[in-house]
Amino acid sequence: MTDQTPKKLFIKTYGCQMNVYDSQRMAEAMAAEGYVQTDRADDADMVLLNTCHIREKAAEKLYSDLGRLKPLKGGRPDLKIGVAGCVAQAEGAEIIRRAPQVDLVVGPQSYHNLPAMVRGEAPAVNTEFPAEDKFDHLPQRRATRRAPAAFLTVQEGCDKFCAFCVVPYTRGAEVSRPTARIMAEARDLVARGVREITLLGQNVNGWHGDGAEGFGALIRQLAEIEGLDRIRYTTSHPNDMGDDLITAHRDIPQLMPYLHLPVQSGSDRILKAMNRKHTADQYLRLIDRIRTARPDIMLTSDFIVGFPGETDQDHAATLRLVEQVGFGTAFSFKYSPRPGTPAFGREMVADAVADARLQELQALLDRQQRVAQESMVGRTLGVLFEKPGRMPGQMVGKSDYLHSVFVQAPDVAPGDLLQVRIKASASNSLEGVLT
Ligand code: SAH
Ligand code: SF4
Ligand code: F3S
Repeated sequence: MTDQTPKKLFIKTYGCQMNVYDSQRMAEAMAAEGYVQTDRADDADMVLLNTCHIREKAAEKLYSDLGRLKPLKGGRPDLKIGVAGCVAQAEGAEIIRRAPQVDLVVGPQSYHNLPAMVRGEAPAVNTEFPAEDKFDHLPQRRATRRAPAAFLTVQEGCDKFCAFCVVPYTRGAEVSRPTARIMAEARDLVARGVREITLLGQNVNGWHGDGAEGFGALIRQLAEIEGLDRIRYTTSHPNDMGDDLITAHRDIPQLMPYLHLPVQSGSDRILKAMNRKHTADQYLRLIDRIRTARPDIMLTSDFIVGFPGETDQDHAATLRLVEQVGFGTAFSFKYSPRPGTPAFGREMVADAVADARLQELQALLDRQQRVAQESMVGRTLGVLFEKPGRMPGQMVGKSDYLHSVFVQAPDVAPGDLLQVRIKASASNSLEGVLT
């Protein structure tokens, strides 16, 4: 291979949208080093696994994937294997001890060092929390055309320390990116064909810019960008849901009527043990205020069942809260004890009990999801088209409420935002016709 031949980079992304965004930024940093992305590990010159540490199963996936890569490396010793993301941060050099085929380990706040690490000019393990913003040092996004919907990280890290959660340890303290940088990145994305931006942060609504500004003010500024038709954000904490953000949902048409607001449990006792710092009633009152501002908003959430100490009554309180709110969709998980978090070592709920509770909660959430989806039939919604569907002439896009919508529309192009009348609800998507 000569120096002119581009090298190939395969990235596998686990975990949350923040990792999806980071993988893209790392690919751009490596592009400056002459790497192009490939979707096959077996012909790559470098494999980068961008990992998640949130639950035990997520973290274990890394080691099974590394096991599969070992023979590949045996046949091609010059293949570079890198581990990035939250497992890299949590386990550091331990990963190389356990899986010696790994060449480098880089934590989420050290991605700007990746090119130097690959060149062998920086240590092979880097899990520092540097004082400066990693984004300042990552190469600027390149001027290529982009898909119509994009992520933009505005806030990272978390100071909330929920008793079950690794994020404050893997991502570090809360940091808000400055307004000017966010606006510049958003304008650049729009210039490259992006019409919808999802603002990302572990506590995105805790964003406070350079000081006094609130997240609602940021959304108001973004809404002034000509050509940016849709704004979304995720994930939010109930305690950071300020008045300016709630009124933004009332006032800003570009802010989509969709809000992911994790509550985790409907029991005050468990919420307290989780260190969530709000009660079920406070959450319900917040939902009322949000729905007063934007009556058609679709709400989604995260739940954990089987948190240490959870009784049948606590579980019933969670089901009650779900009934009271009516969610459009929701994620629910069985509690997974994470080393280093405050709840680690507390007495566990019996596995069979936790499994049964998870099933019961998921059945209720599935019913609500079906009802919410079916309620779209007969309505006319905005759909941002993204790509062709499987049938000839079919296009698929996302509705205002984030449902996938299939439409027979051979003349529609990715990036078109059109009004669609919803005709039918399938298991995981909607069908409609252009109005
Ligand atoms: N920043 C987000 C959550 C990030 S983690 C927030 O505060 O809402 C995404 C979800 O994973 C959490 O909302 C929680 O429901 C789940 N989760 C986190 N730690 C977990 C654990 N130890 N066991 C099971 N689920 C967990
Ligand atoms: Fe984790 Fe809680 Fe922070 Fe969310 S708010 S990232 S659940 S510690
Ligand atoms: Fe996982 Fe890290 Fe995201 S632990 S959920 S990849 S912040």
